[in-house]
Amino acid sequence: MHIIVLGAAAGGGLPQWNCGCANCNDARAGRLRPSGQSSLAVSADGEHWSILNASPDIRQQMLDTPALHPRGLRGSSVASVLVTNGDIDHIAGLLSLREQTPFSLFATGEIHAVLDGNRIFDAVSHDKVTRQTVSLDMPFALHKGLEATLFAVPGKVPLFLEGESVDTGLIGEQTVGLRLSDGRSVAYYIPGCAYVPDDLLSRLADADHLLFDGTLWDDDEMIRSGTGVKTGRRMGHISISGPEGSIARLATIPARKTFVHINNTNPVWRPGSGERAHVERHGWQVAQDGMEIMT
Ligand code: MLT
Ligand code: MN
Ligand code: ZN
Repeated sequence: MHIIVLGAAAGGGLPQWNCGCANCNDARAGRLRPSGQSSLAVSADGEHWSILNASPDIRQQMLDTPALHPRGLRGSSVASVLVTNGDIDHIAGLLSLREQTPFSLFATGEIHAVLDGNRIFDAVSHDKVTRQTVSLDMPFALHKGLEATLFAVPGKVPLFLEGESVDTGLIGEQTVGLRLSDGRSVAYYIPGCAYVPDDLLSRLADADHLLFDGTLWDDDEMIRSGTGVKTGRRMGHISISGPEGSIARLATIPARKTFVHINNTNPVWRPGSGERAHVERHGWQVAQDGMEIMT
């Protein structure tokens, strides 16, 4: 299985247009590598590709990735696109894929309802782009030779659909993880997860590679840095550090592990930081755009 990280950053990217935090300033000044928003490409055979989450940066991400260039006058190696939730960083890129080339669009029924409920997505032609509704825990073919299974992880509804009160640990069709298998190896992709329940630990036992939510280093990172008013928990994202954080909770999973969907405030972006050294000491790598994972 061949995985390419198209965008390692969380919503907003690194740098984010309106952010003057140390990471964003350094990324603007060329002292830190910039990163696009949350997306992967995956292939079982190097010929057919699937895009996992369509970020607002998808046009540039595809330009930077020769495997995703057209093979003829019109057409694409992209057989399908799958979205794991309805957040803007994962769906806005669908609008850039509207130019009459067929592919399958996979999502849960609830996420398809979010897309169908917003008429702007009708621009992604229903004639050409086949909406495929996926039931949780039912394997299907993402493309030939690549089996995928969606499963519920704790999360919440998209920010733009939040009501007065928000369940930030909702388990259902709004936020899902993805199991990928090409018959030789198994990868999991979970870019958003509010906490790690015990049943997720048992599920991940067969993982060869785990790509997991690395949004924040700690829960009040955005408040402390003055860049936001929400905790990670409120945003539906687990922290990397701490006793209930991802490093501690996932310590027993024997897979290779990679953090993705990393917020621009996160100190793990910085190669020389103590936080980066900490995650690497615990067997994790920090994704970067263009990173290729062969598993
Ligand atoms: C998230 O991951 O929490 C969302 O992408 C936030 C957003 O929509 O900006
Ligand atoms: Mn996001
Ligand atoms: Zn920033």
